[in-house]
Amino acid sequence: MLILGIETSCDETAAAIVDGTLEVLSNVIATQIPVHARYGGVVPELASRNHAEAILPVIEEALSVANVTMEDISGIAVTQGPGLIGSLLVGLQTAKAIAFTRNIPLIGVDHVEAHITAPMLKAPQSHPDFIPVEAPYMALVASGGHTALYDVEEIGAYRVIGHTVDDAAGEAFDKVAKLLGLPYPGGVAIQNTGEGGNASRWHFPRAMMKKGNFNFSFSGLKTSVRNHLEENGQPDSPEELTDLCASVQEAIVDALVAKTLKAAIETGRKTIVLAGGVAANKRLREKMTNACIGKGFTCVRTPMPYCTDNAAMIAGLGVQLLNREDSDFNDLALDAYANLRVGSPRNHRTGVRMV
Ligand code: KG4
Ligand code: ZN
Repeated sequence: MLILGIETSCDETAAAIVDGTLEVLSNVIATQIPVHARYGGVVPELASRNHAEAILPVIEEALSVANVTMEDISGIAVTQGPGLIGSLLVGLQTAKAIAFTRNIPLIGVDHVEAHITAPMLKAPQSHPDFIPVEAPYMALVASGGHTALYDVEEIGAYRVIGHTVDDAAGEAFDKVAKLLGLPYPGGVAIQNTGEGGNASRWHFPRAMMKKGNFNFSFSGLKTSVRNHLEENGQPDSPEELTDLCASVQEAIVDALVAKTLKAAIETGRKTIVLAGGVAANKRLREKMTNACIGKGFTCVRTPMPYCTDNAAMIAGLGVQLLNREDSDFNDLALDAYANLRVGSPRNHRTGVRMV
């Protein structure tokens, strides 16, 4: 079995080939970051146009790196949502056209579900963060669009334990970076600028820590940084900027680590999975790992190439859905959806059970 995965939900045009054992044969990404960086965020119309230009060369490259041809592909998995509708449609139309002309199965994959299951992919054995992972586990998915905790019982059975009540963690990084005049995407910029800084120089809020639930809130942090800048002005030395970035990063990381740990303790899960773009954050990876050691938990950090948006995670989930006994694949009526569905009942035909 060789599955072609296609991902175009936001600002990365991606294609990958994954085999039936979840071995990743290729994982190609054409990033649009330079296109959107000057606007400080993703411009939906520009994103769809760029996907339309990049999609076919990216698929060709994925086939070529995997050293296979389209004749070898046994099925297609494509991101159906959540995401920008115009962007999603480019991937969906391409996937439908290939599936129709080649007469192979087509399966719509949920982007967040793919992040949750991304560490199941077989990264090269040499990858320092590769740990074979099996459900059940507690997954923290922290990205630019979503931040939530999922109790993963098995593929397709996810219970939402907590979620952000306002901004996503990646959104908080991006918005604070914008306030500081740092480039998009803000998470990487804040991490790199804050490297070696004094993270306790300023204390920014860790919201909802005392609440009995597992929800997050990051909009107060952004306001607090804005107030700080109004009172003190922009940092007037590189050292001040470094300390400010380190302090902001620490506040976001602390909230993510505390709530994830609490959720694992209360549900009895012994494995914590870090997933989504923000899971690429070095400080989060380090702090969650140390916290897990203290509690006797296993911390599975999704290998870096599969944290930020990629098509290997889409193909990998496609393989697992098509391998299920109750698997059912989609017809050409498959449509895009904009909003979060994981953790709530779905009505499209993937044969996936949501709890
Ligand atoms: O998963 P992703 O690629 O796209 C979405 O599904 O949203 O996540 C993108 C988010 C952006 O907000 C970006 O700032 C953040 O992930 N991000 C990071 C890092 N790398 C990407 N945040 C913190 N530290 C990083 N190293
Ligand atoms: Zn994502």
